[in-house]
Amino acid sequence: YTAEIDASDIEKGTYPHYMLKEIDEQPLVMRKIIQAYQNENNELHIDEPIVGAMKEADRIYIIAAGTSYHAGLVGKQFIEKSAGIPVEVHVASEFNYNMPLLSEKPLFIFISQSGETADSRAVLVQVKEMGHKALTITNVAGSTLSREADYTLLLHAGPEIAVASTKAYTAQLAVLAILAHVTGQSCGTVQDFDLIQELGIVATAMEALCDTKEEFEEIAREYLSTTRNCFFIGRSLDFYVGLEGSLKLKEISYIQAEGFAGGELKHGTIALIEEGTPVVALATQEAVNLSIRGNVKEVVARGANPCIISMKGLEDEEDRFVIPEVNPMLTPLISVIPLQLISYYAALHRDCDVDKPRNLAKSVTVE
Ligand code: G6P
Repeated sequence: YTAEIDASDIEKGTYPHYMLKEIDEQPLVMRKIIQAYQNENNELHIDEPIVGAMKEADRIYIIAAGTSYHAGLVGKQFIEKSAGIPVEVHVASEFNYNMPLLSEKPLFIFISQSGETADSRAVLVQVKEMGHKALTITNVAGSTLSREADYTLLLHAGPEIAVASTKAYTAQLAVLAILAHVTGQSCGTVQDFDLIQELGIVATAMEALCDTKEEFEEIAREYLSTTRNCFFIGRSLDFYVGLEGSLKLKEISYIQAEGFAGGELKHGTIALIEEGTPVVALATQEAVNLSIRGNVKEVVARGANPCIISMKGLEDEEDRFVIPEVNPMLTPLISVIPLQLISYYAALHRDCDVDKPRNLAKSVTVE
């Protein structure tokens, strides 16, 4: 089987790198997803057998690798908050050899841009043998993980060429939000929430961020031109986005980067803070706004160079960048964009091969 790719889709056009093009495509991908998942009454729609399988499950197991795993962490929050179904998120390579005790009626969700990741496939083969149902969320129709699962939801992100995943991540979040929402509506746990409108606001916010690239180039120059390491901190949803931000940065700029939960800093990591260590802090969640700012003070007191990225409505004068306001549940869809762009410019400033970083492959088909 070969996936069909439209040649015009994969040209860089005037872009110097695929990664930058793919970052810029995110608002368009949002709009495509909103369209693709609407029925004739302009309501969000997921095929009934999938919603049925979600509702029948007593526990959902999300299995993924890399960036898709980070999308799964956010997806867990979406599903638990909207549909009230407990969710576990597992790295495929660990689950494969160290399977946890399963619930009685599990549903497996595989998240994979390529649909070909061998670690995820090995889990799929095992759980199918055990007789469990599986749903694959992928960008590639007809990919192995799609063919071998019971159900598929497509990302509609278009071909992603750069090794570092960007538009597939935000597409995964959008599809997971829609899946959680439609399931929640069907369970009666979601009412009066216009997700189409909220995702439209996300798309507009994404555009605004993509239009202020100079800001992120400047941040990359100021904080990351010569540093050896960089930390990302956040709490709740911001923590998960920080993990993705740190993965982006290490993948393409080779800066040693780690993401941490703000509250965990004092339990060890703070020992690594030295004079001038860049610490990117995300502050988009009202409930933890004060506590994450407290964590920033702790690292600043040890000499860190803080870069706070907050959201409109929660901003403070110490912030380096303020993202537009979106629904608090959906902030990961836009707070990741500054991190993608900062990583991109950091890699450029450091003369790295942005689209084809050393030692990495776009799709890893060996376990
Ligand atoms: C590789 C890529 C990552 C990607 C991961 C999972 O390691 O370099 O960017 O996140 O595989 O890929 P998948 O296609 O399963 O989402």
